[in-house]
Amino acid sequence: MTEKFEQVYARALADPQGFWAEAAEAIEWDRKWDVVLDADDAPFYRWFTGGMLNTCHNALDRHVENGRADQAALIHDSPVTDSVTSFTYRQLRDEVALFAGALAARGVRKGERVIIYMPMVPEAAIAMLACARLGAVHSVVFGGFAANELAVRIDDCAPRVIVSASCGIEGMRVIAYKPLLDEAIELAAHKPESCIILQRPEERATLVAGRDTDWREAVSAAKPHDCVPVAATDPLYILYTSGTTGQPKGVVRDNGGHAVALNWTMKNIYGVEPGEAYWAASDVGWVVGHSYIVYGPLLHGNTSILYEGKPVGTPDAGAFWRVISEHRVAAMFTAPTAFRAIKRDDPQGARIADYDLSNFRTLFLAGERTDPDTLHWAEDKLGVPVIDHWWQTETGWSICANCIGIEQLPVKEGSPSKPVPGMEVHAVDENCQQVKPGDIGALVIKLPLPPGTFPSLWNGRERFIEAYLEEFPGYYKTADAGYIDADGYVYVMSRTDDIINVAGHRLSTGAMEEVLAEHADVAECAVIGVEDKLKGQLPLGFLVLNAGVTRDHGAIVEDVVAMVRERIGPVAAFKTATVVTALPKTRSGKILRGTMQKIADGEEYKVPATIDDPVVLDEITKSLRAIGYAKTSGEQG
Ligand code: COA
Ligand code: AMP
Repeated sequence: MTEKFEQVYARALADPQGFWAEAAEAIEWDRKWDVVLDADDAPFYRWFTGGMLNTCHNALDRHVENGRADQAALIHDSPVTDSVTSFTYRQLRDEVALFAGALAARGVRKGERVIIYMPMVPEAAIAMLACARLGAVHSVVFGGFAANELAVRIDDCAPRVIVSASCGIEGMRVIAYKPLLDEAIELAAHKPESCIILQRPEERATLVAGRDTDWREAVSAAKPHDCVPVAATDPLYILYTSGTTGQPKGVVRDNGGHAVALNWTMKNIYGVEPGEAYWAASDVGWVVGHSYIVYGPLLHGNTSILYEGKPVGTPDAGAFWRVISEHRVAAMFTAPTAFRAIKRDDPQGARIADYDLSNFRTLFLAGERTDPDTLHWAEDKLGVPVIDHWWQTETGWSICANCIGIEQLPVKEGSPSKPVPGMEVHAVDENCQQVKPGDIGALVIKLPLPPGTFPSLWNGRERFIEAYLEEFPGYYKTADAGYIDADGYVYVMSRTDDIINVAGHRLSTGAMEEVLAEHADVAECAVIGVEDKLKGQLPLGFLVLNAGVTRDHGAIVEDVVAMVRERIGPVAAFKTATVVTALPKTRSGKILRGTMQKIADGEEYKVPATIDDPVVLDEITKSLRAIGYAKTSGEQG
């Protein structure tokens, strides 16, 4: 029966104010809102204007007071340190209150920014919640980014304090974080007043006198801090995400709408009840980590798993099944790339039989399109529904999903199902007219977006309009293209900008081109995303050298690979580039990146009518073949 979902969806669309006001009753407010949806400053819509609350209170204290004090709130499962540490709601509340006291002692007040640059340790979540407790605004920076990226974020949000750790552990390798932090502070124009550093035994960091304090010392000197009520519309966090230039966009999340929406999603989208264990195998540095390692599960009274490990190699392809069984996980969320890694190491899924997965009900995948192979493998081997759902850093939660907590719809492979309640999605042409079912268009969402999405960009009101709202008046541009079928299922096919998706990580090829262009021997360059069996996509660079350069091409390629790693970080996975004599362009000088990508992936392509010199494409094809790309379908096997 599809009526149930359709009814809920229709109600959210017809009466968004009533729908979300009802959902907001599940949250504790210090003061109720005056207006549910405030359009006074449209297109900067705001939710629950006039309301006051504290997100940390709702995520922790409320549950301690309401019978969950001794339930596990957070379990840090860390195969890389061979440890499992569990925090009850009471313990986590106490740790967070103390760390909030440590931040307050360093001058952090409501509205002040704090950067968190940490590996997957519980202290990362504690620091986030401590900021929320104070009404301060956190900005978590993913550990795989280089010092330069961290510096850009320090300058944009001007934190009073930075919280970091001595090191992270990636598989078997210890990665020092502190030297990257020191370098970033050196590079940035804004200097934080203090840093709190978690010293890990695997590698201790040197502290800068007068600026840095050891986490444990900071906490032992601190007094617990109470929750500070903030306006529903006050910012909870800033999360930077790749834009179309090297300057990342600071996505802002508010307190009220965020708490209401995320709490609602736990039951309605993920189908879990308070008290059950929920696991998002992602990183706190990404939006998935914010929404579904920290805030969503805790707001809803679940037990959240914070996993410091990989799907394979820590120690083997049975790692996920061990975690699911050991912590009785009911629903898990990860990226398809993780399942491709498991499938590669254990194609028969033989390790699954070693574990008791009887509590496990649903697997959720996002971050990239779930390819049919991965979907069917996971369905067959696990015997549970596998739900692809589509969302973005900007939206903070799903745009489309099979809302199994409302009603499970039939799964259609290649589709993240239908728009969720609150999201009205259309596929439109360049004139903002809806295209026919099955025809590809730009995927847009009708304004206003529901609560929990982003009200604006940090320091970027104009950029918010220009990047997201200008092209399709009245709609939010997702920058994804795709189609909607006759049953209303959405298919997300590709980005319309320069973003590529590498192992579920969102990266800008434009930002990589900016780095390549700085090499003294490079006259011109282009970066495209090429297909990769494991990571979905990988970046590939093309370099045109300055006239007269005689250096070995291999050495130049090595240089640019090192530069991207140094400037953007290892997460970019930029490992391949090739030197060509020219880039294919239109007569007006636009580089034909789309055509190059099709050639690289061995797809059919048309030589664009506007091409300046078609011969260049032959050379590109030859160069690509020389490095193992541009195979025809027969060769791809
Ligand atoms: N701190 C420091 N370095 C990091 C890092 C972190 N938090 N995260 C990744 N890196 C480094 C890795 O060590 C690797 O470095 P290398 O080039 O020296 O090997 C590089 O960044 C690329 O990392 P990654 O993309 O994770 O590749 P991988 O080969 O280590 O692992 C997968 C591949 C598929 C197993 C892994 O990406 C994965 O588990 N993905 C899960 C999905 C996910 O987390 N998605 C996020 C959104 S849901
Ligand atoms: P991020 O902001 O890092 O979450 O990346 C968002 C982008 O990842 C989206 O705009 C899509 O391009 C892609 N994406 C995320 N989830 C899906 C999905 N389920 N299907 C297809 N693409 C997805």
